Amino acid sequence: MTGLRLLDPPHKGLRHLLGKFALAAGRTDYADPVELAALRDLAHRVQTLLEEHARNEDDVIFPLLEAKVPGATAALHADHGVLDASLESIVARLDEMDGTQSREDAHALYLDVTEFQARYLLHLVREERDFEPELWPHYSDDELRAGEAVIAQTMSPELLMAWFTICAPARTVTENREVLNNVKGVLPPEVYAGIIEALRPEFPAGRLETILEGVE
Ligand SMILES: [Fe+2]
Ligand SMILES: [Fe+2]
Repeated sequence: MTGLRLLDPPHKGLRHLLGKFALAAGRTDYADPVELAALRDLAHRVQTLLEEHARNEDDVIFPLLEAKVPGATAALHADHGVLDASLESIVARLDEMDGTQSREDAHALYLDVTEFQARYLLHLVREERDFEPELWPHYSDDELRAGEAVIAQTMSPELLMAWFTICAPARTVTENREVLNNVKGVLPPEVYAGIIEALRPEFPAGRLETILEGVE
């Protein structure tokens, strides 16, 4: 049986963000203060969103399965601690860089970013291939959607916007239409218009217009 894939939107967004992070880590000139500062900002954004995602899973999503199969999410929960520590170390080293590091030091950091990306991508696959299908026999799609709503309600408007910005460009036209049709009905028109304008630079030319053709 197949059920609601509630991890699909954030995971597509996180894969997109990690791809950007690895790309930026490879093409940054670590001796250029402007480029280094931009990479540092991106690293902090990655850290904020990954931490928030892990907290949502630990506090809301994993307990759904733990209530039915105690201990089932222990390994994934442990992954969060290990991955958090790796990223924390990468961010701390970036924060300490002042433009005087050697190219070899910069390359070592780049390799660590890509290794982190590889390990994080495997974690995401395990959650979607192994964990998520285990939920389906126990919960209806509506019950899973209720969990999703709990998470959305705890987010500040800034955080919600940050998620939109990484998830929307990583999802299909149809998926984006579904989300925009849902939020358009409940948000004040100016807030909705603000979301659309903030998303515009994230899409290739014409794609946002195609999405909007299917939004009532
Ligand atoms: Fe996770
Ligand atoms: Fe996850």
